[in-house]
Amino acid sequence: MDNPQKYSVFITRKIPEPGPTILKKYLQVNMNPEVNVLDREVLIKNVKNVDALLCMLGDKIDSNVMDAAGANLKVISCYSVGYDHVDIKEAEKRKIIVTNTPNVLANTTADLTFSLILSAARNIINADSHVRRGNWKFGWTPDLFLGYDVYGSTLGIIGLGEIGTLVAKRAKGFGMEVLYYSNSRNQKIESDLSISYVPLEELLQRSDFVSIHASLNKSSFHMIDESKINLMKKTAFLINTSRGKVVNEKHLIKALEDKQIAGVGLDVYEDEPISVSNPLIHLPQTVLLPHIGSATFRTRSKMAEVSANNIVNSLFGKGTVYRIK
Ligand code: GLV
Ligand code: GLV
Repeated sequence: MDNPQKYSVFITRKIPEPGPTILKKYLQVNMNPEVNVLDREVLIKNVKNVDALLCMLGDKIDSNVMDAAGANLKVISCYSVGYDHVDIKEAEKRKIIVTNTPNVLANTTADLTFSLILSAARNIINADSHVRRGNWKFGWTPDLFLGYDVYGSTLGIIGLGEIGTLVAKRAKGFGMEVLYYSNSRNQKIESDLSISYVPLEELLQRSDFVSIHASLNKSSFHMIDESKINLMKKTAFLINTSRGKVVNEKHLIKALEDKQIAGVGLDVYEDEPISVSNPLIHLPQTVLLPHIGSATFRTRSKMAEVSANNIVNSLFGKGTVYRIK
C-alpha cells in the first residue's frame, strides 16, 4: 500500500473506539469533537476534498454536500442502519459508495422495542413518577395503575427485516401470537417462528401491540395515518422504533387525544428532537424516548468498528463492505 495517509475522512460527530483508531491507521482523520448536530455551513466547509465521510442520522447528505466535497469523495459511511438521510440516487450518479451498519444493532433495538411495549402496557413511567413524587399513599391498592397483559396478547409487526424478526423471537418468549406485514413474505421465518403474514389492515385490526420496523422510503412515508390508526383496537398500543415519518404524527396525536388507541411507545418522531411544545409530551398515554434504539456501550462501539471498516475496506478494496444495494 503506497502512502495510505493520502486519503482523508471527516467524521461529523465524535464516535467511540475502536472507530477513530481504525481510521487513523490508514487515513487523515478530522473528527468533530462536539456532540451537537453540525451546522450545515460547518458540514459543507469540512467535507471539502475529503475521500470519505462518516455521518450521523441528523446530517442531511444531499447533492449540495456531495458537490461541496468534490470529486475526491468515494465513500459515505452511515453510523446507523437507516440511510434515509443520504440521497442515494445522487450518490449513485457520482459513483460514491454508501454503507451502513447492519447486524450489529438489531438485537439491541429489538430489546428497546420490548422495553417500550412493556413500559407502555404496564404504565411503568407514570407509576415510577407516582412513587418519586411522593403520591404513593395507600400501599398495595386493587386498582392502582392497571395496565394490559403483554403475555398472551397479539403483536403485529410491520416490516420483517432483521429487527422485526428479532422482535418476533422475543414475542414468542412472551407467549404472544405474532402477525406480520412486510413488502415480501418470508415463509422460512414464518414456519421457524410460527408467525403469520396478514394484510396490513388485518394486522391493525387484530393486534394488541403494533410495532413498526419498516425503513423510511417513498412508499412507507406516512404509511400509518388516520385511516390506518382508526382500524386499531381502542385497547391497542402503537410502538415505533424505526423512523418517525412512517407515521403521520398529527394524526397520531389526534387519535391519542380522542382515546382512539390506548397509548404509544415512541423512540422516533417526525422532527427530531421534539420540543416541549409537542402535544405528545403532554399526553399521559405516551412513553417517549430520545432515539436510543441502538444506544448500548457495546453496540455503539461495534457500529464505530463497522462504519470505520466500511471506509477502509472500500478505499483499499479489501474485506467486507456493508454497501447499500
Ligand atoms: C438508528 O435509527 C439507525 O438507523 O441506526
Ligand atoms: C401482589 O403483590 C400480590 O401479591 O397479589
